[in-house]
Parts: sequence; structure tokens; C-alpha cells
Amino acid sequence: MTIASFPVTAIFDWYDRHGRSLPWRRRWPELAPAYHVWLSEIMLQQTVVATVIPYFLDFTRRWPEICDLAAAGQDEVMAAWAGLGYYARARNLHRAAGIVCAEHEGRFPADVEGLRRLPGIGPYTAGAIAAIAFGRHSTVVDGNIERVLARYFAITTPLPAAKAEIGARYDEILPSERPSDFPQALMDFANAVCTPRNPGCGACPLAGGCAARRAGTAEALPVKAPKKTKPQRRGIAFVAIDSRGRTFMETRAERGMLGGMLAFPSAGWTPDDGVYDPENPFASAPFGADWRMAGETVSHVFTHFSLTMDVALAEHDGAGPPENWHPVRPARLPTLMRKVWTVARRQL
Ligand code: ADE
Repeated sequence: MTIASFPVTAIFDWYDRHGRSLPWRRRWPELAPAYHVWLSEIMLQQTVVATVIPYFLDFTRRWPEICDLAAAGQDEVMAAWAGLGYYARARNLHRAAGIVCAEHEGRFPADVEGLRRLPGIGPYTAGAIAAIAFGRHSTVVDGNIERVLARYFAITTPLPAAKAEIGARYDEILPSERPSDFPQALMDFANAVCTPRNPGCGACPLAGGCAARRAGTAEALPVKAPKKTKPQRRGIAFVAIDSRGRTFMETRAERGMLGGMLAFPSAGWTPDDGVYDPENPFASAPFGADWRMAGETVSHVFTHFSLTMDVALAEHDGAGPPENWHPVRPARLPTLMRKVWTVARRQL
């Protein structure tokens, strides 16, 4: 098999002209602090850059160094993460900060193997931190880079089966120069030019060598295994408010949906939450009260299912442990629970 060739200079030239300035980014030969690279990469898993920027700035303002983050309470970290989703990321983030601070004197391992031992760091993230923070020639293939390479080399194997082939191509084309810039240049290029729909092939600096461009298949690549249709689930959330305007909330179990997050009691939408019978909606209420239905539902889409949530309301004092009654601070709630509160507050 011939070794793949790729116009590395064209990509670097494009990056020098059009690459984004991002708060966690430096340009070669400067390397960004590993803490910043790690934090941004964890936040960017499943989340777009524009959403991540304010969270990244907030985290680094609150916790300027990794040992500051390690010393924070888990509830503070979870509250600061609220709204970003995939909350296991925040729990692992806090655990990893504890390990790096306690066992590595606050310094991240510089190699892929060491990084992979930390909670929440898989092969992509380890490769990205090693390259971007430490200038290693590691493999860095995210969904963006997958798209550029699947097109440039006209790889028609569907994802995820194509991952090994795309990773091999990446290793072949990886230049010796500017190892921290190379993956970031490809990501920005994928985001601005080689976009999923309507790729900008007309003005593309790689068009001359792009096999998909030649074959007219750019838009059809990468081929993805067909998506499963999402199941619909139904649940109910219970919002009780007391005479001081506080609401009854619980910290959800660590494992499972919205794990570790503050939330209104709910039922029926995850396996551990108890059943919900819409014919008998208050059977799963957290305590006896004069519950009524809000008459409005909340819709929310998770990765593996779509949820319609009924909302039950009550004015009630004194049930359950006193520490469960909180003034509502929507910014500290997961998005689903913010939506529930938006419905509830209109009627309380
Ligand atoms: N997506 C994930 N990591 C990124 C980075 N370092 N730059 C741009 N987009 C990214």
C-alpha cells in the first residue's frame, strides 16, 4: 500500500489565515497549559465550541489551577457544569483533578498511556492532550477530522467501522512540524470549510488532491451507519414550593441520568426512578401533598430517547429533610430541570 500524501502546507497556511482564536488555544511553538487543554477537551466532547467558551472561562476564573478544581466541592463543580449535559463528564473531571493534584503534583502525564489512566480520558482525548498540550505526535481523530480524511481519501466504509482506517491515514499524514497545531488546524478547517452539509469545495485549498471532490461524493461522506429512531419516554416531575418560596429538590444518584445533579423529584423516565402511571399521576410523588397537574408538559431530547415530562405542582411546607428545600437557582440545574422550573414558576 502506498503511503498517503496530504497537502500539509496548505492546511497550515489556511490555519494561519483563518484559524480561530480560542481561550484555551496557543499557536506553535507555544503550548497551552495542559489544564486548559484537558478542561476544554472534556467540555468539547459532544458539545460545540460556542457553548463551551463561557463554561471554560467560568471554570478557569473560579479554579485557575487544577489543584483549585481538585479542592472544590463536588456539588460546586456539578452546579458550575449545569447546562452542559453528560454529567458523568463533570464527576470524572473532578476525580481526575483530584488524582493529578494528589498523585502527580498537579502535573498531567505528558503521554497517551499516562493520560488514559485518568477518569474520563479515552483514546481521542488522550491523543488530543498529548498533541496540543505536550507537542506529541499522537493520533487525534475526532468527528471533524474523520470527515476531512474520509473525504480526502474517499473512504466509503461506514462509520464506526471506518475509524481504524481513518486513524491509520492520520498517522501517515501527520507531519513532524507543528504537532500541536496540526489537529487543531484540521478541526477548524472541518468546521469552516469541509462542513457536513454544503462543503465549500469551490474555495477549498485541498480540492486539488481530494478524492471525494474528484468523484463528486464529498457531501455523501463519511458514510454513517443508519441512526436508530429514538424511543419516546414519558415521566413526571414534582415541584413543591413552600411559604418561603423554596422548592423541594434532591441530589440524583451518581449513576444514571443527570447523575449527581440537583433535581426536582421525578418518576418514570429512567429505570431507577420508579414507574409513572399517567392514570394515577401522583402515586410516585415524593410525599403526600395537594398535588395538581401543571397542564403543560416539558419536552427534552437525550442521546438515546426523547422525553415528555408532565409537571405536578404543590404548595406545601415541611415535608422531608429540611436540607432538601432550596431557593431555585436555575443556572445550577440541568437543562431538563430548568425547563420544568420554567413551566412550574408560571403557575406557582
Ligand atoms: N474540538 C475539540 N477540540 C478542539 C480544539 N482543540 N479546537 C477546535 N475544536 C475542537
